[in-house]
Amino acid sequence: MLFVYTKTMRVLCVLLLGVWLVSGEHLELDQVVLVPEDWTHAGRVALQEEVELTFALKQQNVDQLQELLQLVSDPDSQQYGKYLTLEEVESLVRPSQLTEKTVWTWLQGHGIRNCRTVQTRDFLQCTMTAQVAENLLPGTEFHRYKKGDQTIIRSSSQYSVHEDVFEHLDFVGGVLRFPTSGKEISKAWEGPRRSGKAFHLGVTPTVLRARYNLTAADIGHAANNSQAVAQFLEQYYHPADLAEFMSIYARGFKHLTEVERVVGTQGGGKAGLEASLDIEYIMSTGANISTWVFTNPGRHETQEPFLQWMLLLSNMSAVPWVHTISYGDDEDSLSTAYMNRINNEFMKAGLRGISMLFASGDSGAGCWHLTKENVFRPSFPASSPYVTTVGGTSFKNPFKLTYEVTDFISGGGFSNVFAMPDYQVGAVSAYLKGAKSLPPESYFNRSGRAYPDMAALSDNYWVVTNLVPIPWVSGTSASTPVVGGILSLINDQRFLKGLPSLGFLNPRLYKLKGTGLFDVTEGCHLGCLDDKVEGQGFCAASSWDPVTGWGTPNYPALLAALIEK
Ligand SMILES: *[C@@H]1O[C@H](CO)[C@@H](O)[C@H](O)[C@H]1NC(C)=O
Ligand SMILES: *[C@@H]1O[C@H](CO)[C@@H](O)[C@H](O)[C@H]1NC(C)=O
Ligand SMILES: *[C@@H]1O[C@H](CO)[C@@H](O)[C@H](O)[C@H]1NC(C)=O
Ligand SMILES: *[C@@H]1O[C@H](CO)[C@@H](O)[C@H](O)[C@H]1NC(C)=O
Ligand SMILES: *[C@@H]1O[C@H](CO)[C@@H](O)[C@H](O)[C@H]1NC(C)=O
Repeated sequence: MLFVYTKTMRVLCVLLLGVWLVSGEHLELDQVVLVPEDWTHAGRVALQEEVELTFALKQQNVDQLQELLQLVSDPDSQQYGKYLTLEEVESLVRPSQLTEKTVWTWLQGHGIRNCRTVQTRDFLQCTMTAQVAENLLPGTEFHRYKKGDQTIIRSSSQYSVHEDVFEHLDFVGGVLRFPTSGKEISKAWEGPRRSGKAFHLGVTPTVLRARYNLTAADIGHAANNSQAVAQFLEQYYHPADLAEFMSIYARGFKHLTEVERVVGTQGGGKAGLEASLDIEYIMSTGANISTWVFTNPGRHETQEPFLQWMLLLSNMSAVPWVHTISYGDDEDSLSTAYMNRINNEFMKAGLRGISMLFASGDSGAGCWHLTKENVFRPSFPASSPYVTTVGGTSFKNPFKLTYEVTDFISGGGFSNVFAMPDYQVGAVSAYLKGAKSLPPESYFNRSGRAYPDMAALSDNYWVVTNLVPIPWVSGTSASTPVVGGILSLINDQRFLKGLPSLGFLNPRLYKLKGTGLFDVTEGCHLGCLDDKVEGQGFCAASSWDPVTGWGTPNYPALLAALIEK
């Protein structure tokens, strides 16, 4: 919705580049090269200035990675829950000696020696001068861009690599993609959204715990349990806000009031709404569970914060079991090479028994205004087949904690890039067959990965930020940590029984066919504001639907369904 301005330009851009850059080998020709509206140009980078680039080296055994993930995540497989350590993941995917040698030779040939790798050896991060970087990557020209008091360095044009390394690299990070650039998927909107709607008392931990059937005894007990939120915005949570929030709202159940560990740089300044929301709510449903914050892990001007977080996960042998993230980009703005590689990173995490939860977005089905006609606009990583994507709901009657309906902003739809994974074929076909009214076929790709997978309340939250309680905070940024905390509680009960973590949940979630979830069957989300669909995307239906997935958690029932095996 917000980024309408770029849509036709982007297409033109990709087409032009295809013709224009004929020499050299391009790893990401389909990556959109365009400065987002909110960043302003701040001059060419001096040749002697330092930049840091991230090289994603081709991994080995990607097919096996995918097969193994299927086995460890399928409750009917003998290998269910037999997760790998980071060291074992390393021996599976680490690049071949030929790949490592070829890439090193190329880098050293340009005098680049200052590089760091990760445990799995499939990323290299190297510093060099802008001059060296421009020689290394023909086509590039590094510039500085500003947004508020943030600055970053990016190339204003596509890059190519030497033909010798072309088949040994997936992509080079720190060249083209702008960090979130205000496109973070879920924005924790503030302010009453529906004028004329009855006054709502608002969602608090007590309301959530009542609705999702959590009793005072449903808190974490296991010593080694942990959960995390990851954030890539220039904003921070304040420990004092968390403590204040807990003292006001978290009554009647034991909980923690402090974050266990902050990984990354917590800047100063005012607390952010989004950052406060995530941490306050994951610690309210996942109560008494050790919680980490991964914050803005990309401080160098050339880094990509999201990618930087993925590198961190591949470089830490002990990380929390559940991660919730409210971040995403239009699928059509990212190169396929990049998204495929990020998917491999999600598979690596799943193989270790880590659950990745992403917010489904706050623009419903989205809308991409193409020259001739509109189409829906999926976002990534929400559309990745290897993460669990969380949509949003609101209470039908704001004075009762019972019936949930679609929150019209709830992101959902069908990927145009990733094929529908096997685990969801039955559920999605049933929806497509049974749906009373579907948008025209030209708006979406019915063979793509469909999302979200489940949902939770996303409307009218109370959040404490800068020591002030704020009402009406909404978005799938709210529902995602709520679901994350609930999965952590289930992990906790599993750990107490000596069972492994839930890991990549989807294969098991779809086999439950809705057991343990409140089915959401009412309401439609946003789509394109044109004559054909008149602002409407998809509608909720019984069982799975591309608006609220399988529905929202009924904790005791979901626990019962996920506690065996
Ligand atoms: C990965 O961790 C090792 C050991 O702590 C460290 O030396 C290395 O610099 C890290 N890699 C990156 C890319 O930060
Ligand atoms: C959970 O909540 C629902 C609705 O609030 C209620 O009907 C149900 O009995 C509760 N308990 C269980 C175990 O599902
Ligand atoms: C909270 O969790 C810890 C383990 O991290 C456990 O030892 C403690 O008993 C839990 N508190 C309660 C009230 O159960
Ligand atoms: C806790 O889990 C981590 C892996 O996430 C493991 O390395 C560590 O040994 C575990 N600690 C205990 C006390 O079980
Ligand atoms: C639809 O999705 C499939 C993969 O799921 C892809 O191969 C195909 O190109 C997509 N079609 C369109 C029109 O985007």
